[in-house]
Amino acid sequence: MDTLFPDSYKHRIGGGMERQNARRKAVAATIAEIKQHLAGGVAVPSIERAKQSLMRLAAQAHLFPREDFPLPEDGAMERTFLIHEDENGANALYVNSGLPGQATRPHNHGGSWAIVVAVEGEELHRLYVPEGGTVRQAGELTVAPGAGVSLLPDGIHSIHAVSDRPLLHLHLYGMGFPHQGERMEYDLETGAALRFKLEDAFEIEDAR
Ligand SMILES: [Fe+2]
Repeated sequence: MDTLFPDSYKHRIGGGMERQNARRKAVAATIAEIKQHLAGGVAVPSIERAKQSLMRLAAQAHLFPREDFPLPEDGAMERTFLIHEDENGANALYVNSGLPGQATRPHNHGGSWAIVVAVEGEELHRLYVPEGGTVRQAGELTVAPGAGVSLLPDGIHSIHAVSDRPLLHLHLYGMGFPHQGERMEYDLETGAALRFKLEDAFEIEDAR
């Protein structure tokens, strides 16, 4: 039934599978490298080396086209695609495909370290330290192609939109969302500290 699958479409499928295979290989090599960096323990120097590895993966933008990780079209702000997770839920790597304008309150990641790097688009990350039951801002940096952020297991950040371009970012966590412990989130206006579990907060699409 060649009329159902014209040549152009066959090539598109072929190209997509080739790309997915290339992406799987690159992801597997990156995760292996990151595990080596972190084998001696998660600390600032080792997680910074891990961040460099993840940035090298993100720099291969041809492996992460929007075609494979489309933006939401259902009113949601973002779509989250899982592209790697160890069998025990460790080293979970997500592609975040998001509309411009995303923002979060300060939060931790339930005891998990985290690294965020950009294939495309930029966002501002503010970093915090605990203080008197709430948090105090201790720094900020922009995540954009060539610049990422790493957070230790007790790290706290908030995310702020800085551009009107959509995002395609890679988020790597010591443990995937369903395996993370209870998170803390801080309301800076009221000083309230809120506990929450992420598990049912949003849908994760399996793109491994
Ligand atoms: Fe976060």
